[in-house]
Amino acid sequence: MVGQLLLHITLFLWSMSNALLAVASEASLAKPSCLSQCGNVTQIPYPFGIGAGCYLDDWFRITCDNSASPPKAFLNKTGLEVLNISLGGTLTVTSPITFSNCSNKKSHRQARNVFSSPFVYSQSNRFTSIGCEVIALMSDFGKPLAGCYSICDNTAHSSSTIFPNNSCSGLHCCQTTILKGLSFFDTTFRSMLNDSESEKECKYAFLVDRDWFMSTNISTIVDMDNVPVVLEYRLRQYSAQDIYGTYNLSPQNMTCNDDWQCSCKTGYQGNPYLLDGCQDIDECLNSSSCRAGTCINRPGDFVCYQPDPRPIRRINVGLLVAGGVIGLLFLLIGARWSHKVIKKRKDNKRKQKFFKQNGGLLLEKQLSSGEVNVEKIKLFTSKDLDKATDKFSIDRILGHGGQETEVPLLVYEFIPNGTLSQYIHHPDEEFSLTWEMRLRIAIEVAGALSYLHSAASFPIYHRDIKSSNILLDGKYRAKVADFGTSRSVSIDQTHLTTQVHGTFGYLDPEYFRSSQFTEKSDVYSFGVVLAELLTGQKAVSLMSSEERRSLATYFLISMENNLLFDILDSQVMKNGRKEKITALANLAVRCLNLNGRNRPTMKEVAVELEGIQLSVRAETKVQQVFPGVRCVQTQEINEVSDVVSSSKGPCTDGGAGSSFDVQPLLVFNTQ
Ligand SMILES: *[C@@H]1O[C@H](CO)[C@@H](O)[C@H](O)[C@H]1NC(C)=O
Ligand SMILES: *[C@@H]1O[C@H](CO)[C@@H](O)[C@H](O)[C@H]1NC(C)=O
Ligand SMILES: *[C@@H]1O[C@H](CO)[C@@H](O)[C@H](O)[C@H]1NC(C)=O
Ligand SMILES: *[C@@H]1O[C@H](CO)[C@@H](O)[C@H](O)[C@H]1NC(C)=O
Ligand SMILES: *[C@@H]1O[C@H](CO)[C@@H](O)[C@H](O)[C@H]1NC(C)=O
Ligand SMILES: *[C@@H]1O[C@H](CO)[C@@H](O)[C@H](O)[C@H]1NC(C)=O
Ligand SMILES: *[C@@H]1O[C@H](CO)[C@@H](O)[C@H](O)[C@H]1NC(C)=O
Ligand SMILES: *[C@@H]1O[C@H](CO)[C@@H](O)[C@H](O)[C@H]1NC(C)=O
Ligand SMILES: *[C@@H]1O[C@H](CO)[C@@H](O)[C@H](O)[C@H]1NC(C)=O
Repeated sequence: MVGQLLLHITLFLWSMSNALLAVASEASLAKPSCLSQCGNVTQIPYPFGIGAGCYLDDWFRITCDNSASPPKAFLNKTGLEVLNISLGGTLTVTSPITFSNCSNKKSHRQARNVFSSPFVYSQSNRFTSIGCEVIALMSDFGKPLAGCYSICDNTAHSSSTIFPNNSCSGLHCCQTTILKGLSFFDTTFRSMLNDSESEKECKYAFLVDRDWFMSTNISTIVDMDNVPVVLEYRLRQYSAQDIYGTYNLSPQNMTCNDDWQCSCKTGYQGNPYLLDGCQDIDECLNSSSCRAGTCINRPGDFVCYQPDPRPIRRINVGLLVAGGVIGLLFLLIGARWSHKVIKKRKDNKRKQKFFKQNGGLLLEKQLSSGEVNVEKIKLFTSKDLDKATDKFSIDRILGHGGQETEVPLLVYEFIPNGTLSQYIHHPDEEFSLTWEMRLRIAIEVAGALSYLHSAASFPIYHRDIKSSNILLDGKYRAKVADFGTSRSVSIDQTHLTTQVHGTFGYLDPEYFRSSQFTEKSDVYSFGVVLAELLTGQKAVSLMSSEERRSLATYFLISMENNLLFDILDSQVMKNGRKEKITALANLAVRCLNLNGRNRPTMKEVAVELEGIQLSVRAETKVQQVFPGVRCVQTQEINEVSDVVSSSKGPCTDGGAGSSFDVQPLLVFNTQ
């Protein structure tokens, strides 16, 4: 009860204070303590004003002639008599009628020139002429601006027939619109009759406020000297400081266009050209605003309280629309937010699913139990990757693979030196792969593949071995990359029957025919890489003749015809020893055997390659350290059966730099 009473009292006081404000604002269109009325001109709003400090500048100075009754207001600078001033940017002034040959009338008075003032003639005026067979012209120093021709009806005698239904339609009276921004004109007449009688006839023309003209009996105008004309006033040449008299404060609750035509916002009234000119409208003073309940006025609008008192029954439409818009905005934001949350949850679920599906859980378990014998495996969270890739920024993309990936992703180390293919086929001027490097790379790749095929807990076939999938790190160590098509197979499985994947030129012809991918298919592809390393040619060359198109075929034919040394890369020729080159070439031939069964396994290849490398080092070393022992008989290296594994021997010491864990120990048979 007490609460309600207090509320009512507060509401009452609030409305009271607002009512006082509204009353105060009623008289404040002029500057404070300035006269705002002169005779019939009941409102003289700033920028107009009477007396020093009350007007914007001399153009807006009003002088009130109190000697007349009622007093007359004049624009002091232009001398125009002011009839009415509107805050909408217009004022009504009197303008003379231009008479010619009319009795008791002074001829050829002209309208006032307001050129280069803040005033222009409004387009709501009409240029009007009354006469007989006469053209009235509005011109600017002889240049016609507007004109109209009024014809005669010689049978007409009374004014009601001269101006039928008080209309100005070309008969005795004609009317035309005017140019925009007109500020100066002369009125002249051109008689169209040749007889001196009509020359002498009374004719007159004037610019006139259309609204006033429409509500005036045309026949009575001839008795007047002046008619009302509407001027527009424009403040565009003034600054805000000119108008408001201050830099610091800005006017409130009003809007202006670029022309400084200003108005108060809805819910406010007053003079927008005064600093505090726009005052809240107290809608509650209007009894029809809020028929039942308590009306509470608020800045810009009002609220109706029911007696209970529950707020808001009627508020102004603007507020309702604003409320609706804000509500809708919140709804949209809410919808967007919940959409985001749902999407995130869905994404997380999907991520979990893929993680599980792709062996993530297994990997996690194995990592934590230390089961996995591959070192340096680290699980990155998507947050880590977000950070590392700058939210998967487009700028960070190095290239695209053939796969659209699911979670989890494989994170590789960054390999700065590009692919083997680049080094073989686009040799750098400064840096080219030496024979030693080529051999080492071959060994490293073979080691990696051998590991995949046999050392890993279950065999993995790479299925896309090619020089562009072999990356070179900072020290030009080879890394086999792109397991996009690779598959793991159970140990007792000897082949995979699949759709044929791979890269033309490296593709095992057997696999191509049978769709059966075996570990020997990887061996074939590796054979092509060996051929590339030896010859520096591309696996497929579209430029070459038919038989040279496939490097594998070309290489085999050349080998058959003992032309190996004709097709070698210059780098290989330069610093490779003939015996080693031949050994490597023969190994490549066996890898490229059309019958997969005749190809060596990857492990055999790796061992053999190590042997080729070792033979050089071992030889030198042996000659130094064990001068009596000959480990290597190089000319027999090309016989595969010559290479055997043994546990220990004097020549096994040279394997430093070999790439795989299982260190093959080699002894070559001696002759
Ligand atoms: C001034 O207003 C009065 C009353 O509204 C009117 O009778 C009178 O004609 C007006 N005078 C002029 C010069 O407009
Ligand atoms: C303009 O003001 C001056 C001085 O106040 C006065 O003498 C003059 O008559 C005024 N002119 C008009 C047209 O009111
Ligand atoms: C003056 O102009 C205002 C607004 O244009 C209008 O409402 C008012 O009736 C006018 N007064 C006279 C006396 O013409
Ligand atoms: C009528 O006007 C013409 C030219 O406009 C002029 O020559 C003539 O004297 C005028 N007559 C009278 C009676 O004013
Ligand atoms: C004048 O207006 C009246 C009705 O407003 C109409 O009946 C009459 O025909 C009009 N006269 C002419 C000459 O248009
Ligand atoms: C008007 O009179 C002049 C000379 O007085 C003559 O040359 C001209 O042709 C006449 N025009 C018409 C339309 O009668
Ligand atoms: C217009 O005024 C004339 C004379 O002053 C009068 O004869 C006529 O009836 C008036 N017409 C109208 C429509 O008031
Ligand atoms: C302008 O409106 C705001 C809110 O609509 C009000 O807080 C402020 O007092 C108003 N300013 C003036 C000068 O009326
Ligand atoms: C009162 O409000 C009604 C409706 O909003 C409006 O039509 C009327 O002009 C207002 N009366 C006053 C005096 O403001």
